[in-house]
Amino acid sequence: MELTRRDALKLGLMGVGSLFSPFGDVQPGLAATGQCMSHAHSDPPVLQPLQFSPQIDQFQRPFQRLQLLPAQAVGANLDGYTISLRKTNVNILPDKQTEVWSFNDLLPGPLIRQRKGRPSVVRLINLLQDETGQSIDSSIHLHGMASLPQYDGYAEDLIPYNHYKDYYYPNDKATTLWYHDHAIGHTSRNVYMGLAGMYIVDYEADDFYNPQDRDLLPQGDYEIPMIIQDKRFNPEGRLIFNDNAQRGTYGDVMLVNGVPWPRLEVSNRKYRFRILNGGTSRVLRLGVQVQHDTKVEPLDLIVVASDAGLLSEPIYTKTLQLGVAERYEVIIDFSKYAGKEVFLVNPILPSNGDGDLRTTRILCFQVGSGTQDNPPLPQRLGVLTPIDTLRAEVKGPTRTFRFDRNGNRWVINGNVWDVNRIDARVDPCATEIWRFVNGGGGWVHPVHVHLGHFRLLSRNRALLQPYEQGMKDTFYVGEFETVEMIGRFGPHEGKYMMHCHNLVHEDHDMMTQFEVGHQGCDPCSAPAKPLPAPPTYDAPPCIPPQECSLSPGG
Ligand code: C2O
Ligand code: CU
Repeated sequence: MELTRRDALKLGLMGVGSLFSPFGDVQPGLAATGQCMSHAHSDPPVLQPLQFSPQIDQFQRPFQRLQLLPAQAVGANLDGYTISLRKTNVNILPDKQTEVWSFNDLLPGPLIRQRKGRPSVVRLINLLQDETGQSIDSSIHLHGMASLPQYDGYAEDLIPYNHYKDYYYPNDKATTLWYHDHAIGHTSRNVYMGLAGMYIVDYEADDFYNPQDRDLLPQGDYEIPMIIQDKRFNPEGRLIFNDNAQRGTYGDVMLVNGVPWPRLEVSNRKYRFRILNGGTSRVLRLGVQVQHDTKVEPLDLIVVASDAGLLSEPIYTKTLQLGVAERYEVIIDFSKYAGKEVFLVNPILPSNGDGDLRTTRILCFQVGSGTQDNPPLPQRLGVLTPIDTLRAEVKGPTRTFRFDRNGNRWVINGNVWDVNRIDARVDPCATEIWRFVNGGGGWVHPVHVHLGHFRLLSRNRALLQPYEQGMKDTFYVGEFETVEMIGRFGPHEGKYMMHCHNLVHEDHDMMTQFEVGHQGCDPCSAPAKPLPAPPTYDAPPCIPPQECSLSPGG
């Protein structure tokens, strides 16, 4: 079902309003309050009107695979990539160009696919400036990588316009990662405008309990990365960034790999999807459905990996929740649906606060027929450290972090971001339990801890889903929830950020930092340098070896 303008009028969603684009020009037009389906709360004090995007026919445009960025070998054991940040026009709406802030002119950015254990260097060249010629500073974080602090995209470690920085990555863990802007105070705008891309470190046989099982997961044509994002457009096709009085930014157009509501032709067999919620604020609760004459049949989503690696066994579920920045690898078996249309769906969630029914379906799989080849899935997948082993390593007390709205600010333990304050000092490789508390108020917080890979221990108001009990770096903390996670903090020393990944909350200033060890960042600064960049990459860092991994088998 789709919400038409007339439906919206009936529901009382419409009003006449205006709103500001990120660049200050006022856009008149029809508007919905964006708050109607959400339960009442006192904040924000001023409801900013939202504007519907121009109508787009759903499930017409072909699905687009992410474009692979080929590696250049720059050393016997180092792969190099170069990515420029620049404005470019892309075709998202019919007959309209939309300006985005891109990595290499692509939305989303190019896919990097890296072999495990082989280090990489990614040169980021910033060519972004605003209309007045001011630099649009950026800092790039590879979300999920245990990077050295100087290559972790620290929010204040910025690349100005006309500068570049070489980021080094160890690639020591196979999983689905993503790289995105992390500029202090502007991450939500910059990611929304396009600065996000996927980065995969491929599995090796030794990631699997049974090494030969690696080849049983669908791969090649049958392995498809998907970045799901919601955006909003004005009648001319410009992206509207409206952070809705700091609550969040919610689009009414669902994009997969930059294409609105695409149609993907699949064979009648198993596929593996690497799904990233790459939006700004929206929580996804995905399902897969086929419509029979009168009834809807839900299909299984078979989850095989989470943010930071393989689960121990495939988990069957009908719904899969992803807060912003969460990633799951999911198998969908289309073998029984030859000739059918199968939909990737996403119900309205009160916490998204938008009530726009156009976001309830995302993508249509058009299932072909005639395939015989559909190998079974492995029974076992990766090897996870037993939780009891981790618990036995814990020496210090549990640390508690409260995520609240306080006055007009988003705070952690009452504080906003301060580059000079450190809220937790952690011994190198120490195993700790951290507790995240959401006091409620009509919002959720997907909490991301840099550097480490952790495991969920408990959630007070809801059962832990089996699929979220693998390795993770981002933890959905629902309203009134208390969530506990455990993990080893390493292998590097230095200052690392922790923040809410509703990027609007992060920018306003729900972010803090912890420090592992005592080395600080003195020996490890790697500032951006002015262009032109030399043809060779900067010298790689020496990475002190330390063993405190959580897997495989570790
Ligand atoms: Cu995905 Cu600190 O970010
Ligand atoms: Cu938040």
